[in-house]
Amino acid sequence: MATDKQTPPQQQESGSESISSVLSEKRKFPPPTEFSNAAHISSMEDYEKLYAEAAKDPEAYWAGIAEQFHWEKPWEKVLDWQPPYAKWFPGATTNICYNAVDRHVNSWRKNKAAVIWEGEEGDQRVLTYAELHRQVSKFANVLKIAGVKPGDRVAIYMGMVPELVIAVLACARVGAVHNVIFAGFAAHAITERVNDSKAKLIICADGTRRRGSTINLKNIVDEAIVNTPSVRSVIVLKVTGEEVNMHDGMDHWWHDLMGLAMDHNEPEFVDAEHPLFILYTSGSTGKPKGILHTTGGYMVHAANSFKYVFDIKDEDIYWCTADVGWITGHSYLVYGPLLNGATLMMYEGAPNYPQWDRFWDIINRHKITILYTAPTAIRAFIRAGDEWVTKHDLSSLRLLGTVGEPINPKAWMWYHTVVGQEKCPIVDTWWQTETGGILVSPLPGATPTKPGTATRPLPGIMVDVVRKDGEPCKSNEGGYLVIKKPWPSMLRTIYGDNKRYEETYWSEFKDMYFTGDGARKDEDGYIWIMGRVDDVVNVSGHRLGTSEVESALVAHEAVAEAAVVSRPDDLKGNALIAFVTLKDEYQGDMKLREDLRNHVSREIGPIAKPDEIRWAQGLPKTRSGKIMRRLLRELASSKEIKGDVTTLEDSGVLEQLREQEEED
Ligand code: WTA
Repeated sequence: MATDKQTPPQQQESGSESISSVLSEKRKFPPPTEFSNAAHISSMEDYEKLYAEAAKDPEAYWAGIAEQFHWEKPWEKVLDWQPPYAKWFPGATTNICYNAVDRHVNSWRKNKAAVIWEGEEGDQRVLTYAELHRQVSKFANVLKIAGVKPGDRVAIYMGMVPELVIAVLACARVGAVHNVIFAGFAAHAITERVNDSKAKLIICADGTRRRGSTINLKNIVDEAIVNTPSVRSVIVLKVTGEEVNMHDGMDHWWHDLMGLAMDHNEPEFVDAEHPLFILYTSGSTGKPKGILHTTGGYMVHAANSFKYVFDIKDEDIYWCTADVGWITGHSYLVYGPLLNGATLMMYEGAPNYPQWDRFWDIINRHKITILYTAPTAIRAFIRAGDEWVTKHDLSSLRLLGTVGEPINPKAWMWYHTVVGQEKCPIVDTWWQTETGGILVSPLPGATPTKPGTATRPLPGIMVDVVRKDGEPCKSNEGGYLVIKKPWPSMLRTIYGDNKRYEETYWSEFKDMYFTGDGARKDEDGYIWIMGRVDDVVNVSGHRLGTSEVESALVAHEAVAEAAVVSRPDDLKGNALIAFVTLKDEYQGDMKLREDLRNHVSREIGPIAKPDEIRWAQGLPKTRSGKIMRRLLRELASSKEIKGDVTTLEDSGVLEQLREQEEED
């Protein structure tokens, strides 16, 4: 078994609410009538009907949606399913950039704003569909000049500027496979990803802005590519004007190459199953997984889920606050909105820069109608105080969304009342890097919502909560969340590692995709996510593997052994606690605690920095040598143990717990 599967946890709660308060959450909020009247799907009856139709003949359902896009060549069949390998729309050819950009340029939308961008310092840019098309076409020509061929991998490492969207779309246009690496990741993380994907080219920025200062990204790339033999060139976009070293023959300025490129570019029509992107995400073992998504199926579900979950209309100004370095940014900042011809807002910086009202100020000034953000941000806003929100006019908002982690009812209610003024439905969307798009979510004009649940699966999506033996759980019984039928935007494999793909997702349950999440289904069939049941942790909405952090720790010369577990945290959802055994010669070095935290930050990135490091004489293990993580989790959350005190080696209680664990 690939995952160290735990029994389904209790509801992963933050804030002061207890598990029982979530279990007894009975409040229900029907969609406002005015909203429903204008919605694409306006009643539960319509949802039920569509769901039943799609369940009866999923292939006909997906084909009906796919027909709304441009295919250069039609498909021979809708689905070729050789479990666990799916081919959607085999035989067809298309280009997702053509569908996201050219199609709108050929319509009345050509002068509609595609991207409204605001920099951290308040600078603004608007790209219409026509302008986006021109820039993407030009940059696609740049990629060709750089020798990029269909199927080549291209790494992208830059902050949230419009050129990031342009780079992503241009890769898709020429059939190259993009791999966006979050600009908060460190050099080592870039090296690891670039070597795994064997990227030929890196597109980066000189620097990025963060809370009034700048980070030199090019220096980080220079450090990363000392050990990446596949990289032939680096294209550097000037954003902050950092001092950078440009290496002859290797490094090229974005603006120089754009100066050489023609405006016109013919998109490369590729097979529906042609790889579109690789996005690395954390798993149960140390090495990040390269989640591979392909073109046609991803396009169909990213676009369709966006349309219905966000009930998108041409007048909307939609804002997803996620970074393009994560899957949410891929599907619901770039592809979903653009495939629908929507206007999207893109913001470069931090939510609390220069002050805690930056988001609300942006909403007021740009008249944002739909806001999609993460529970961790909501909890931070609650802490900062309502006055930052209420001093702005947020009346343009009509719909709110959340993603990335369970939202606790208290945060949900605050979002509903303080931000949404009790008039905006909330879509709590459950999905994963692997699923490519939202799978479980309310449809805002139809589904009555309850604080803390992502409610029901979208039409065409068959999810269930099952026991260890794969049998469905009873109502409200905790179990494992699985997906019972293939869906178009599912990952196709883990890049270069089919075995890991099969083991991670398809070996726990027969013919079902295992999500790694614990859940329960209530009497209305609503899904309540209870958090991960493997060694993946959600920290501030970012997914991290505890073993990744462990690998980084043991790479430090002072560390003999390390185990990392999570503890519920009011603000971040989860905090990381590292239990570290030092080598003898380093024992007693008090400075090491900070050194180790910084070391992890350098190895992976600041998001992975342990919140707390505890010294341990030895780690508790079973007789077979397995670290007893459950015990460490209990220790990490225990109220009695504070700060420095580590009593791992001599507690009778622990002995007892250890014995219990062994018996399991
Ligand atoms: C968690 C982010 C509860 C879950 C799109 C999942 C959620 C993991 C929700 C995927 C939600 C995501 N409610 N939990 N609405 N959305 N999760 O790959 O544990 O970064 O497995 O994708 O986040 O994280 P990932």
